[in-house]
Amino acid sequence: MSALILDGKKLAETVRAEVRDNALAFTKKYGRPPGLEVILVGEDPASQIYTRNKEKAAKEVGIRGKLHVLPSETSEQVLLAEIDRLNADESVDGILVQLPLPKQIREQRVLDAIRPDKDVDGFHPVNAGRLASGRPALVPCTPRGAMKLIALANAKLEGARAVIVGRSNIVGKPMAQLLLAAHATVTMTHSRTRNLDEICRQADVLVVAIGRAELVRGDWVKPGAIVIDVGMNRVSFGATAPGETARTKLVGDVAFDEAKERAAAITPVPGGVGPMTIACLLENTLIAAEARLTEHS
Ligand code: GUN
Repeated sequence: MSALILDGKKLAETVRAEVRDNALAFTKKYGRPPGLEVILVGEDPASQIYTRNKEKAAKEVGIRGKLHVLPSETSEQVLLAEIDRLNADESVDGILVQLPLPKQIREQRVLDAIRPDKDVDGFHPVNAGRLASGRPALVPCTPRGAMKLIALANAKLEGARAVIVGRSNIVGKPMAQLLLAAHATVTMTHSRTRNLDEICRQADVLVVAIGRAELVRGDWVKPGAIVIDVGMNRVSFGATAPGETARTKLVGDVAFDEAKERAAAITPVPGGVGPMTIACLLENTLIAAEARLTEHS
């Protein structure tokens, strides 16, 4: 039996439509739209695309999105000064610094400098700590989106065995916290885990965010599992004649065609988790805006 395909593109549209309504209501109530500032340092081509998409998506839902591009040789001090300025600007509700940063800039210093109540990425230690201790927090966008996709599969998480492959601060760790909060029994695994395939085979919910193309094979998937593939890997395919440029495609961390024959529900790549990340960023911007203005009024 083939799995239910969890359509992130469609679900992201629904989330964006909700954000659009709420942004309009916010603008009417406070006399200004919610504001999201995105900072890109340098010229990384993938980051350029991501940040332009974030700015555009914000504008489409009535959020004032602004992209700041700083040269690749920008010093840490200059970037921190820019963050300070945005921290103090009352019309700014969300600040996002695109990662990775050039090597002269310490990532932790920068993430720690963003005001936690404007930290729409949810990467500040205050938000990570709040999430881990079950308090209201700005939650990282990709795990938030993944939880919405899991909800689409209609599975009962309470008591379910969830296995996460990958322990990043951006996805793996916050994902574990969200699944724990939903009463799942959570196992974290990573690149040094022994017998990874055996552990994956026990998962009712399998979340893979390890950055290795098609690492998880079909026979690693428990029949009836929900599989969330956070991976996004560009790989070459097909034979290339001399002088011909290689054809490439995007694949996830899960061998989709194999896994879909065993899973009850699975996210495709592209079109699964990816589109949810930006939708949840917009949602986080609105949450941050409302929380700040409610506090101040
Ligand atoms: N680089 C890759 N993913 C992300 C993300 O979610 N947020 C930021 N700020 N940078 C990223």
